[in-house]
Amino acid sequence: MSQHVSSRISGFYKRCLEERLHAIQALGLLDEEALAHLASGGGLPTAVADRMCENVIATHALPLGLALNFRVNQRDVLVPMAVEEPSVIAAASNAARMVRRSGGFSGEADPPIMTAQVQLDDVPDAEAAAARLEAARASLLAAGDAAIPRMVARGGGCRDLEARVLSAELGVLVVHLYVEVGDAMGANLVDTVAEAVAPLVQRIAGGTLGLRILSNLTVRRLVRVTATVADDALGGADVASGIARASRFAELDPYRATTHNKGFMNGLDAAAVALGQDFRAIEAGAHAYAAIGGRYRPLSTWERIPGGLVGRAELPLAVGTVGGATEVHAGVRAALQLVGAKSARELAVVLASVGLASNLAALRALASEGIQRGHMRLHERKRALGGASTAGGEPAAPPSGEGKRFAAERAEAPLAVHQAGGGT
Ligand code: HMG
Repeated sequence: MSQHVSSRISGFYKRCLEERLHAIQALGLLDEEALAHLASGGGLPTAVADRMCENVIATHALPLGLALNFRVNQRDVLVPMAVEEPSVIAAASNAARMVRRSGGFSGEADPPIMTAQVQLDDVPDAEAAAARLEAARASLLAAGDAAIPRMVARGGGCRDLEARVLSAELGVLVVHLYVEVGDAMGANLVDTVAEAVAPLVQRIAGGTLGLRILSNLTVRRLVRVTATVADDALGGADVASGIARASRFAELDPYRATTHNKGFMNGLDAAAVALGQDFRAIEAGAHAYAAIGGRYRPLSTWERIPGGLVGRAELPLAVGTVGGATEVHAGVRAALQLVGAKSARELAVVLASVGLASNLAALRALASEGIQRGHMRLHERKRALGGASTAGGEPAAPPSGEGKRFAAERAEAPLAVHQAGGGT
């Protein structure tokens, strides 16, 4: 997004769908194709769907919304999210609004280095074989590069090698090749490298060749983000202290850390889906990293500082701005134009910031009024705005009977579960 465009669009959620689209059009972020795609209601022609996966019988839609108020590394960013769960987009926008008052999110992503694994079993003297493989580093990296000449021409390629003995007794050895993949997520490239170098690896080490595949635990492709937020933006020092206590709870207890991380992934996954990213890979990597020290831990933490809180998150994030669904899916192309990330690294920082925002919104609600009251306000507001939220004056339907259920539950218990279409 150009510097003068603001992600703070006043009253966005109060407008009808058509007006929201006009507001987005006015920002000048979208080309004709993307505008036409969104104006038509999104979707995916079945002919395109049929090329994307197998045994296609139809397409399956999700709501696409925009999280607002994000400022990441001094740039205002609109975050498209595809999600079925009510409150995820509002919550991320809510926390981003608080954080932007103290300057927004900042972060950095490692160079886009993916990991290829080549497995060998029954290697005689695995330690000696590992040493031979390390000594043959240059020729192995060259063999890997030869398999991905176009990536090498674009400045990527094999950067490093590591031989790990998993069991000297069984002769189980794995070779990691670290491959820089530019702005791609990189799975295909890395799998190509793994398969290409495997015969040479086996010639050097001996043993029986096993798997040749990427690892989704991309520890050389981490992203780190941080944000500060002032007590008064959160609703006072007591709320801030409550958030810090909630964070400590997650650090001490894997049961709580799991839910904490679910809240962190709420917005990140929703944005990843909208942006055509491999969210299964993101999820697998994030949770493996959360447990990398031997105990499952929170991906983000919040700590008290004078007058506020500082939040930090670190996780592996293999995302791409080229390749995969970005090539074929008009909605993904539109989402990429909206988010405006110039590189995969920039996209990773945005997505991790979205995670931190989702986490903050949830912890703030939990540390103050509880999660349900805000959900109810959201729902009531949506009902009140009902007639305006769909173009053409047609009232917006509540998700899968939520309206009726909400009314009934409210009569019985003021803080009853708000959800019909999704869990927390
Ligand atoms: P509120 O206090 O009623 O909102 O919050 P507000 O009227 O003060 O508005 C604040 C901002 O929220 C707005 O700023 C909007 O950005 C946004 P404005 O633009 O007006 O200047 N906002 C909305 N955006 C879009 N549509 C709307 C809307 N309303 C407000 N209708 C809210 C209500 C739900 C946002 C708040 O209570 C909240 O943030 N709650 C957290 C909800 C949450 O985290 N939901 C995720 C599901 S829960 C879960 O999965 C995870 C969990 O288990 C994780 C964990 O345990 O850690 C909880």
